[in-house]
Amino acid sequence: MSDQTPSSTQIKPAEQRPEHPDFWCKRFGDGTTPWDAGRVPDAFAAFIAAQPAPLNTLIPGCGSAWEAAHLAEAGWPVTALDFSPAAVATAHEILGNAAVDLVCADFFTFTPTAPYALIYERAFLCALPRKLWANWGKRVAELLAPGTLLAGYFFLCDQAKGPPFGILPEQLDELLTANFEQIEDAAVNDSIPVFSGRERWQVWRRR
Ligand SMILES: C[S@@+](CC[C@H](N)C(=O)[O-])C[C@H]1O[C@@H](n2cnc3c(N)ncnc32)[C@H](O)[C@@H]1O
Repeated sequence: MSDQTPSSTQIKPAEQRPEHPDFWCKRFGDGTTPWDAGRVPDAFAAFIAAQPAPLNTLIPGCGSAWEAAHLAEAGWPVTALDFSPAAVATAHEILGNAAVDLVCADFFTFTPTAPYALIYERAFLCALPRKLWANWGKRVAELLAPGTLLAGYFFLCDQAKGPPFGILPEQLDELLTANFEQIEDAAVNDSIPVFSGRERWQVWRRR
């Protein structure tokens, strides 16, 4: 991860701009992936186990796609999406023959093939520069029908330089409350160091 300031965005090469796939390709290529838990986080596993039936799930910015492997093993339909070919190659190695729809595409422009009942968030919103946050809020609302869910981990803190870019609770509310109602908000006990003490597990229901 590296520093990012709005004033320098224009002059930085693609591999220093997190809105560009090259930024992430460089880090996956170098093996510098401090956000990668290398496992499925506890609250996510508990949430999945508690659902009465499988939900068609989208994982945007899936990276290594550990959670997609977990969902496929549980028999859930899942699309794992990432715009970095290097991330997708890493996910492909981890997923092997798992029944996951692994897609290399941009979250903001890809065309879904079926409606989603769940979007899973982990280290994706905080990977996006602030200028893309409003678009993220619009896009998750556009991809989910009323009654369906956005669930996952949110990096709630005042960290301007990123990624990871911190978001304050009121800023997240501003992105989501017009279209979503928060139905869960819990502390996280198994965070990896880069997120420790600053992430929360949340579930939002589409209005
Ligand atoms: C910090 S990593 C998190 C990966 C994974 N979610 C995890 O928890 O390990 C952010 C990922 O989002 C991907 N990404 C960033 N912007 C994207 C976009 N617009 N569309 C699709 N993927 C994107 C990057 O390529 C990268 O793999």
